[in-house]
Amino acid sequence: MPATRIVVNIPDEKAYDVRVGSGIIENLGSRLREIEAVANSPQLLVISDDQVAPLYLDQVKSSLKKARYQVSDIVIPAGESSKSLELAGEIWEAMAGLGIGRDCGVVALGGGVVGDLAGFVGSTFMRGLPVVQVPTTLLAMVDSSVGGKTGVNLEAGKNLVGTFHQPVYVCADVDTLQTLTDREWRCGLAEIAKASVIDSDDFFFWMLDEQTALSERKVEAVNEAITRSVIFKAGVVAADKTESHGVRECLNYGHTLGHAIEVLAGYGTFSHGQAVAEGMRFAARLAHRLLGTSSELVQTQDQLLDGLGLNPVVWSASPEAMLNAMKKDKKVRGARVRFVLPRDIGVWETQEVGDELLLEALGEWQRTKQILASNA
Ligand code: NAD
Ligand code: GLY
Repeated sequence: MPATRIVVNIPDEKAYDVRVGSGIIENLGSRLREIEAVANSPQLLVISDDQVAPLYLDQVKSSLKKARYQVSDIVIPAGESSKSLELAGEIWEAMAGLGIGRDCGVVALGGGVVGDLAGFVGSTFMRGLPVVQVPTTLLAMVDSSVGGKTGVNLEAGKNLVGTFHQPVYVCADVDTLQTLTDREWRCGLAEIAKASVIDSDDFFFWMLDEQTALSERKVEAVNEAITRSVIFKAGVVAADKTESHGVRECLNYGHTLGHAIEVLAGYGTFSHGQAVAEGMRFAARLAHRLLGTSSELVQTQDQLLDGLGLNPVVWSASPEAMLNAMKKDKKVRGARVRFVLPRDIGVWETQEVGDELLLEALGEWQRTKQILASNA
């Protein structure tokens, strides 16, 4: 199957390609020789993590070396805790030691953690080097590698320090997904489901038709889902590069309740995907109540999430604790919590929801969860 090329064209930025295909890491080096920003780079630094590096680092390095790049690498511990200023500082020092100059480039090989951290150090070292993203998780292919958000976490919260720095190329080699765990697979599926609800009937009903094929990682369906998601994300970012025009925040659909679940249940108790899927279920019900969104949408979305293996979480916290957690989220402006709500498939809006109403909706959510738990 030939690779698919999607051009990301963002106003005031150099357009870049996202390629989605099987075995395309093999030609990464020769492809980079065609990209102006890195065509003549004397050295490329590959940053990866210690779970991905044993699987794909040699392949990436040999492709780059075949294209006669000098290549160095830094391998970081896998996991969210690597998105830290401390590790960023160590990488900056190591980059200086490796003689990385303004004409060099950074290649991020891994999931969203590597992509965000490598993007951050790449965008800040010597005031900004070209960054190539080689995403290896489904989530990173459909979401984090495209759009230029980079960052690290602080004690005070996730992604509080970062930059907007678009990559010069994204190489999504779907062969790398074969080694992904089911848990990580479903995290990617949740972001694709989110995109489909926000995007269009065409995408959403295609997802419903292909839910089994996607759960079983059937190649054609997977390539198509990634392509559709990247086209969707590229369109959103082109309309609102810095999340300041009220468009990019649609990508937070499901994340308001989702983040509260992750914080209160403890990070890792539920996967990010499960938490986001639960957040989508809650937001659709809130939309039914506030906007008159059809119960058919609520039920069809439930069907899709069930079919993708993103089952309802059997856990709850008090409405007050959930509300507090939502208010601590950096995306909350002022005193009221904002939700992305679907009016229909492909039609969404944001709404600030008052505490009283939200506590009532959370109370209903908690009761449903308690019933689920007692039947489990
Ligand atoms: P991750 O990078 O932690 O990867 C998940 C796990 O899978 C890790 O242990 C990793 O080592 C392993 N892994 C990666 N690729 C693999 C492969 N092919 N085979 C086997 N194992 C593999 O997590 P993620 O879900 O990819 O990304 C989450 C991060 O992305 C979060 O930090 C989040 O904030 C960020 N994010 C950023 C954006 C953005 O726009 N920049 C968007 C969404 C999420
Ligand atoms: N939150 C994902 C993005 O804005 O790119």
